[in-house]
Amino acid sequence: MVNNIVVAIDGYSSCGKSTLAKALAKKLHFIYVDSGAMYRAVTLYFLRNNTDLKNHDLIVDALEHIDLNFHSRDYESHILLNGEEVSEEIRQMPVSENVSLIASIKEVRKAMVRKQQKMGKSKNMIMDGRDIGTTVFPDAQVKLFMTADPKIRAERRYNELIAKGENVSLEEIFDNLAHRDFLDTTREESPLVRAEDAIILDNTNLTQEEQLAFAIEQVKPFIV
Ligand code: DC
Repeated sequence: MVNNIVVAIDGYSSCGKSTLAKALAKKLHFIYVDSGAMYRAVTLYFLRNNTDLKNHDLIVDALEHIDLNFHSRDYESHILLNGEEVSEEIRQMPVSENVSLIASIKEVRKAMVRKQQKMGKSKNMIMDGRDIGTTVFPDAQVKLFMTADPKIRAERRYNELIAKGENVSLEEIFDNLAHRDFLDTTREESPLVRAEDAIILDNTNLTQEEQLAFAIEQVKPFIV
């Protein structure tokens, strides 16, 4: 099999990008990288250290002290922040409420994009995020742009968090998603935008199996 196929999956928050990416990685035996987890881990670091987000020198300095690593178990992506497993903590509300702001900082994006591009060297990989098909891997063989009805997205995220025992309201989740969409699409540094050559996948009325079948069809021509 060719060893450098990149599948870029971008789209709005809570559109099921990571669910599809994981299923696809498992099916094709590709590596899966959740780029959002990297921005979330950086956010957690800044929150824990009360980093002054207005001081860009401090941010650059802090970024030098952040070591991020993934380890994959059953195609679940686990992220280590300076050696500590933080996969659960980065999904909680304090991080969700601050991550878009931190992901809009130029220095943060530069550092993450550099790391992501390194990970994609000579590997078959699926990476999901917001700027993968536009900035990180503009030459990716397959680009998917995922979208779904905002109400459905909020319900999905709400059910996920409730199942984990978190005390949240549907309204709070809906507002958080709307706010993140706004910040992600209007920021100056590589905003969320569909790459011209990305295929739109609206999964409002699609099952996970249907989405997987659709994605496999897109990748198939590149697998020899
Ligand atoms: O996919 P997610 O919800 O875990 O992403 C968290 C935040 O990180 C999201 O609000 C936007 C940002 N993000 C980004 O700006 N670029 C990426 N490639 C991935 C995520």
